[in-house]
Amino acid sequence: MALNKERILIFDTTLRDGEQSPGASLNINEKIEVAEQLEKLGVDVIEAGFPVASPGDFQAVKLVAQKIKKPIITGLSRATKRDIDVCWDAIKYAKNPRIHTFIATSDIHLKYKLRKSRKEVLKEAVAAVKYAKKFTDNVEFSPEDAVRSDPDFLCRVVEETIDAGATTINIPDTVGYALPEEFGRIIRMVMERVPNANKTIISVHCHNDLGLATANSLEAISLGARQIECTINGIGERAGNASLEEVVMALRTRKDLLPFYTNIETKEIAKTSRLVSKLTGIIVQPNKAIVGANAFAHEAGIHQDGVIKERLTYEIMTPQSVGLGGRKLVLGKHSGRHAFRKRLQELGYKLNNEEVDRTFQQFKLLADKKKDIFDEDIEAIIEDQISLIPEVYKLEYINVTTGNKVVPTATMRLRKLVAPGKTAKSKVLQEASCGDGPVDAAFRAIDRITNIKCRLIDYSLKSVSVGKDALGEVTVKIAPVARGRAEEFKNIVTGRGTSTDIIEASAKAYVNALNRMIVKKKKR
Ligand code: KIV
Ligand code: ZN
Repeated sequence: MALNKERILIFDTTLRDGEQSPGASLNINEKIEVAEQLEKLGVDVIEAGFPVASPGDFQAVKLVAQKIKKPIITGLSRATKRDIDVCWDAIKYAKNPRIHTFIATSDIHLKYKLRKSRKEVLKEAVAAVKYAKKFTDNVEFSPEDAVRSDPDFLCRVVEETIDAGATTINIPDTVGYALPEEFGRIIRMVMERVPNANKTIISVHCHNDLGLATANSLEAISLGARQIECTINGIGERAGNASLEEVVMALRTRKDLLPFYTNIETKEIAKTSRLVSKLTGIIVQPNKAIVGANAFAHEAGIHQDGVIKERLTYEIMTPQSVGLGGRKLVLGKHSGRHAFRKRLQELGYKLNNEEVDRTFQQFKLLADKKKDIFDEDIEAIIEDQISLIPEVYKLEYINVTTGNKVVPTATMRLRKLVAPGKTAKSKVLQEASCGDGPVDAAFRAIDRITNIKCRLIDYSLKSVSVGKDALGEVTVKIAPVARGRAEEFKNIVTGRGTSTDIIEASAKAYVNALNRMIVKKKKR
C-alpha cells in the first residue's frame, strides 16, 4: 500500500486479540456485526480471528472476508505451513486479504515456550513469510515479545523477513513491559539499523499491562511507525491492547505535536464502543478516556460554570466529535408506524415487515411506560426482539414477591420451542423458587425448568438511556458447571435482557445466556 508520510493505518484486532479477553467470546453473527461497524468506522485492517484456533474462528474469519469489502482482512497464523494454509483458506475470499504470521523472538519465549534456538526461529520466520507470499503479496510478520528480544537478533529477524517479502513488520510489546522512551528507542533502532526497513511499513502492537499502551503507540508514531494495532475500548489479553479511540483522538486533538491523520470516522466511535461492550459483555469503566460515561461529564460546579462560559476551559474535544452529545429524543407515544420505520432505516436497520410489526408493538408498549423514547431504546427493543441466536426457551411470565420481611419468591413460566421460532408444538413449563433476593429466586426457578447446571460468573445492570423511567439493561455471564475453573472459563457465554422492570430484564438476560449456551454446546 502506497503510504502518504502523515497517514497512520489503523489495524483493528478487536475480533482477534480483543476476543481473547477473558469471557469475551463472540458468536459468528456478533463478529459480523462488529466487523460491519468497524468498516463504517473506517479502519484500514480488520484482524478477524485466528483461523486455525477452532472451526468457529475459521468460519467467522471466512464470513468476515466474504462480507466486508473496504478494509484489508487478515487472520493470524503461527509460523507453520498448516497455520498459514488454514489462514489463507479463510481469508482468500476477501477483496484485500493479508496473512499475518508470527513467531516469538525473545530468549525467554525461545527457552521456555518454543524450546528452539535463535537459528531455528530465524529460519522458521523466513520460511513462513516466503510460504505466505505464495498466496498473497500482502504479508505481515510479527516477532512476538520483540521488546524483550535481544536487539541484534530482533534486527536480524526483521531484516531477513523483509527480504523474504514481508510488507508490514509489526513490533509487539506482547507483555506491556516497555516505557514510552524505551519503546521509542526500539522503533528508532529498527528504522535506523535495519537496512531495508524503508521497504516495509513498521507497525506496533502494544499491550496495556502498565497502562502505557496508548503512550507507547504514540511514541512509536513519532519515530516512524505507520500502522497501529489496537482494539475498541482497549479490550484484549490481560490488561488489553492500545485502545483505538485513544490513539485516534490523541492524533486528532494534538496535531500540533503529532502531525498525522487516520481515516477513522470519529463520529462512529461511541456507537462502536457501545456495540463492542454490549456484545462482549465487557463494561467500559466510567472514567475511561473518550468512551467512558464520565469522559465528557463536568461534575464540579466550578467546571460546569467554566464550560458554560467557554467550552475550551475544560474540554479538549467535543462530545459530538466522537458521536456523543446529540442524544436524540426520537419518538413518543403518538408516533406512528411510518415514523418508526423511518427511524429504523436512519439507524441502519433493515428489517422485514414481520420484524417491523413485532418491534413496533414493543415500541408502543414501551411508550406507554416511558415518556421519551431515544435511539438507544429502539436499539434495545431490536436487540430484544430480533435475536441473533435461535431461541430454545422464551420467557412468558414472571411473578416475583420480595421485601425486607418476606422470603423472595419467583414463579416463572418459560416456553420451550421444538425448533427455533416455531411456537407450534412448543411446551409451556412452570416452576417456582425462593432465593437470596428476587433475582436469585428468578434464576433458581429458571434453573429448575431448564435443568441446566451452570454457574453465574458476572451480573451487571445499567440504564439504556436517561431518566427515572429508563430501560434497564442486564448483562449476565454464565458458564456450564465443569470439573475445573479453567474449563468453565473457556465456555463462558454472555446474555442480555432489557425491560423497564429490572427483575424481568435479569430473567430475560439469564434465559438469553442459556439459549446461547445450548447453541454453543450443539455446535461443539
Ligand atoms: O501480543 C502479541 O505479541 C500478539 C502477536 C501475535 C501480534 O498478539
Ligand atoms: Zn497481542
